[in-house]
Amino acid sequence: MKQLRRLSFGAKLLTAFVLVIALTSLAGYFFMSLSVNRAFTDFNTGRYSQQDRMAFSMFGLLYRQAGSMDALLKGLVEQEVDLPAVVANASGVVVFSPDLRRVQVGRTLDAALLERGTSFPADGQQWIYLPTRFLVGLELEEGYLQRSRRSMMWAGLTAGVAAMLLSYLLIRQLTGPLRKLDRASRQVAAGKFDERVDILSSDEIGRLAGSFNEMAASLETAEQVKKRLIADISHELRTPITAVRSALESLRDGLMEPTQATLSALHDKILLTTRLVQDLHQLALADSGQLSMQPRPCSVEAILDTILETIGVQMEDEGILLRRDIAQDLPSVEVDAQRIEQVLLNLLANAIRHTPLGGSILVRAEQVDDSVQVSICDSGPGLSETDLERVFDRFYRADEARTGDDTGAGLGLSIAKALIEAHGGRIWAENAPHAGACFSFTLPIPNLA
Ligand SMILES: Nc1ncnc2c1ncn2[C@@H]1O[C@H](COP(=O)(O)OP(=O)(O)OP(=O)(O)O)[C@@H](O)[C@H]1O
Ligand SMILES: [Mg+2]
Repeated sequence: MKQLRRLSFGAKLLTAFVLVIALTSLAGYFFMSLSVNRAFTDFNTGRYSQQDRMAFSMFGLLYRQAGSMDALLKGLVEQEVDLPAVVANASGVVVFSPDLRRVQVGRTLDAALLERGTSFPADGQQWIYLPTRFLVGLELEEGYLQRSRRSMMWAGLTAGVAAMLLSYLLIRQLTGPLRKLDRASRQVAAGKFDERVDILSSDEIGRLAGSFNEMAASLETAEQVKKRLIADISHELRTPITAVRSALESLRDGLMEPTQATLSALHDKILLTTRLVQDLHQLALADSGQLSMQPRPCSVEAILDTILETIGVQMEDEGILLRRDIAQDLPSVEVDAQRIEQVLLNLLANAIRHTPLGGSILVRAEQVDDSVQVSICDSGPGLSETDLERVFDRFYRADEARTGDDTGAGLGLSIAKALIEAHGGRIWAENAPHAGACFSFTLPIPNLA
């Protein structure tokens, strides 16, 4: 059994085919020869029984004329009568034979043969009259049967070999794509994600090849995303770390005075790095579905009030007008309030950053179908087509030229997306009808969703 398991799929199929072919050929041969034998015997019995009966009556007539068996047999020999039968005594010993070359007088016939003859009483004992065809004819019969058995065997062998050849070709056809898939999977396992299989059939194997190609493609994309992410992360971390390091070296070497301002600037850089690491950690948690959430029934209006109170001062400072459009009687949602506050902070920070002096930001909340929908629209420059598609990507910053210390890493929106999706909601960006960008998200209403 173990050895069988070690065989390749093709070898297993071939073994099964060979066994089936051999078994069917053997069974076919057995049943065919059985039925030929039977048909042959039936044919012979029908054909000869009439002749046998006539010859036997003739023999009876001759016996009556001769008066005794001795006289009859002697007469038959002397006159060389071509009786179509041999005569044996009760013990099966041949006492008369018309053809001494074939059947010797004195030969003992075996019981099976004797049973086919006709037993008759004469001169006070039993005799057996046995048509010669049972002796001679049997040889002919045997010869005929042997010949037909041989032809059947050859026919079976030829058919068997042809069937095996065909099955070999069929198996090659079947296992070829599997071998291709096997080779390609090994390549993918070894990290060659650009490997694809070219199987065009539309059967199960073709579909499997299709799924394999899709899997390889998504692995390839994931690998590219991972590489880009690592490059981005190291780049983002390197900038503040290098700045801090050179500032510290200048302080150590006495090239720079450790003033309050220098130390604050250094502290800010460290804070920036810490935030970046925290953001990345949060994204990694969201990716692996391990973001810890404490959902409680909350009012969206209350969350908005808290945030707008905190951020309102900053907006006033920047000369930005805040417009609120929050629907009355909004149903409560079951969310982790702190996480939703974080989303709103990210969206509002972006909006403030992109709204020019004297501009405005609209915060709207309403019920749309089975969700509460919150939108934050600003009067800034809005987003280009590419930005609309990519703003939620990690490390994506639309205004690439923007560099410096106060800019973000391009993680805020991807974190917002991860948090909203973890709540079962949806987040998207669009341009407001007149000007500015509009970011909206939904939160499902528990007993409606
Ligand atoms: N309201 C907006 N108007 C115009 N562009 C925006 C707006 N909000 C976001 N963007 C663009 O989308 C990019 C990605 O935003 P995201 O919040 O993810 O990153 P960030 O603000 O640059 O950095 P971080 O949020 O990590 O501090 C921004 O760099 C900005 O170019
Ligand atoms: Mg941001």
